[in-house]
Amino acid sequence: MPAPQSADPSLIEAARAVRDNAHAPYSGFKVGAALRSVEGRLHLGCNVENVAYPEGTCAEAGAIAAMIAAGDKRIVEVAVIADSPAPVPPCGGCRQKLAEFAGGEVVVTLATTGGATLVTTVADLLPGAFDAGFMTHAEKSAP
Ligand code: THU
Repeated sequence: MPAPQSADPSLIEAARAVRDNAHAPYSGFKVGAALRSVEGRLHLGCNVENVAYPEGTCAEAGAIAAMIAAGDKRIVEVAVIADSPAPVPPCGGCRQKLAEFAGGEVVVTLATTGGATLVTTVADLLPGAFDAGFMTHAEKSAP
């Protein structure tokens, strides 16, 4: 399979800028995410932590929520950035969230604030993804 193309640098820069707004007083680890939708619009998110730790949300989840709130539904490219020693991999939950709105071929660029990048795809991040095709035998009852 050909290596994914390199990312649009403006997407990484947008993720870098929104990262500054992260609310991460508990981990001290700020993350920024930028998505481009099919419509060509940019949607941004940062992590928002909470004193009740499990209530915190990831940058990717924030960007997806912003996209849905704006009325867009499909992702064509993603960038995530953090101040990490190596490009930060999205958590398992965020991989599943991205797969809800992005095809497997969608390019995801993982970046560090220091300038390192790792270009991957949604399919490579979530092999064997669960999707609606596995539910074709499900019994549905009227509400
Ligand atoms: N975090 C993200 O926002 N995205 C990732 O891809 C990895 C982790 C956040 C969640 C939490 O606020 C902090 O980073 C430490 O886990």
